[in-house]
Amino acid sequence: MENYDVYEYDVLIIGSGGAGLRAAIAAREAGCKVGVVCKSLLGKAHTVMAEGGVAAALANMTNPDGSKEADSWKVHFVDTMKGGAFLNNWRIVEIFAKEAPQRVLELEQYGAVFDRTPEGLIAERPFGGHKYRRLNHVGDRTGLEIIRTLQDKAVGVGINVHMEVTCTRLLKNADRVVGVLGYYRESGRYIVLKAKAVVLATGGWGRMFKYTSNSWEGTGDGLMMAYEAGAELLDMEMIQFHPTGMVWPPGMRGILVTEGVRGEGGVLRNKKGERFMFNPDYMPPLYKGQFADTEEEGARWLEDKQNNRRPPELLPRDVVARAIYREVEAGNGSEHGGVYLDVTHRGAEYIKRKLPSMYEQFHAMGGVDITKEPMEVYPTIHYTMGGIRVEPESCATTVPGLFAAGEVAAGLHGANRLGGNSLSDIIVFGKRAGEAAAAFAASAKQGEIDDTQIEEEQNYLMSPLLSASGENPYTIHQELQENMQKNAMIARTEAGLLEALEKIQELQKRAEHLHVDGDRFFNPGWHAARDIRFMLKTSEVIVRCALERKESRGAQWRLDYREMDNADWGKKNLIASKQEDRVQITAVPLQEMPEELKKLFEEVK
Ligand code: FUM
Repeated sequence: MENYDVYEYDVLIIGSGGAGLRAAIAAREAGCKVGVVCKSLLGKAHTVMAEGGVAAALANMTNPDGSKEADSWKVHFVDTMKGGAFLNNWRIVEIFAKEAPQRVLELEQYGAVFDRTPEGLIAERPFGGHKYRRLNHVGDRTGLEIIRTLQDKAVGVGINVHMEVTCTRLLKNADRVVGVLGYYRESGRYIVLKAKAVVLATGGWGRMFKYTSNSWEGTGDGLMMAYEAGAELLDMEMIQFHPTGMVWPPGMRGILVTEGVRGEGGVLRNKKGERFMFNPDYMPPLYKGQFADTEEEGARWLEDKQNNRRPPELLPRDVVARAIYREVEAGNGSEHGGVYLDVTHRGAEYIKRKLPSMYEQFHAMGGVDITKEPMEVYPTIHYTMGGIRVEPESCATTVPGLFAAGEVAAGLHGANRLGGNSLSDIIVFGKRAGEAAAAFAASAKQGEIDDTQIEEEQNYLMSPLLSASGENPYTIHQELQENMQKNAMIARTEAGLLEALEKIQELQKRAEHLHVDGDRFFNPGWHAARDIRFMLKTSEVIVRCALERKESRGAQWRLDYREMDNADWGKKNLIASKQEDRVQITAVPLQEMPEELKKLFEEVK
């Protein structure tokens, strides 16, 4: 066994995006010694890709008659459940909708600088599936401002940070998680971080798809470490295709184009110039009558948000992504295989003020001036609704000592997430996870770690370097991405999913014999070798769950089961767990919603 560095904490947070930082602040404020370990640099997280705003019912916006919009946690609750096609855990949604406003105001107290209404309140913009203007924002850089704020605060309260460390295995003492093994990406030296309680806040996993808004870190490490440690995974088939990713130039494909563009009045057109979202075939029954029927009505909404219905570009993301997909499949796509997103009618000054990053992104990277010409967009893998199953109040996983918050955890968003709900998720449940982990740590002792786990993992990590020959992890990654993009993307069928599974199994076999040249120093190939095994297992779980769910719901669109099956599948979550070397999938009944919450659906109408 190789030597390793050792650090000890009361609470260890794995991941330094918004959920991780908010958990770290909470645990530190509860008096714990807190360590944060992250794969990249502190705060370089997918949080920054939530650009358009943080959803919370502050009801700051004024109607033309001077009254305030009638927003409340109740409306936010209803919107989130509807947006998630009712697969959400109602208790998680209730906590979320109630606490999101306090958490946003707290960010302001920490120093976040939001855009303002004329009265000086935090400005809120419309977003898909939200009944009222609810996206508290900083231009189109909201996630970035939240990270900046939480980072300042976390450093201020006093945390230890271990950057550029890849964690590969949770260490256990009997059933309990007592730490993690990782290695410094630069030197390859091993590190063991011991803790009385561990919070996973490692975000989502998009890198097994070809076109994604996720950066290189999104390979499912936290998810898979939890799975291997015995945690249950929930609704893993539910992966969000954000309707608008960049299409052109090829190197930029998949980069996010914020929903804020549509929130600020941007419209979608096909190559014939048609506002195709007005096609009644694209309107789900649940939303019939609630959106503008004509372009004129949509335009009036832009002027007067009180008396008119929103344009259908502001339907939930799963709906808009499917419509774009169908337009392109029908031969109505743009020059480079997407559709057009046009915001030019808002004028150059407005666009540059409210959407400065989009302006720069297209100008610098695509040579397109979005104040004068439309953007080309196509759905991109953006977010994972599925993830680790957690207990609503405490974010505890099914493994003692292990908590999870943010995108890696599941339950809040159901089958489809509403834009902006991710940012409020991370601050609401980041805080709760940090507090619960601190409480757990207060009554726990530091667990002994038996070295055989460390030795086993080191041997596993070393195998691609010690093998004389074998497969290149990059080749396997590329084949996996092609496979997932083709067979497990927006439109799914049994035949496609079976083909995907067969290919994954072939790649898994090949990945047992990897070879990487060189040693552990500065060796990206070696990192790729660990990442690919996590990505393959994550892909297997996604595909198995997608095969199992024989209906269309939210992000799961099955061409062979087109209907939403409320009598059966709509009442079940899917749980994936590790049974020796096998993925076990079990359907479990959703918890019945209490009457007082059911009544909200009538009340809010
Ligand atoms: O479109 C966006 O700005 C993304 C927001 C989100 O994913 O919540």
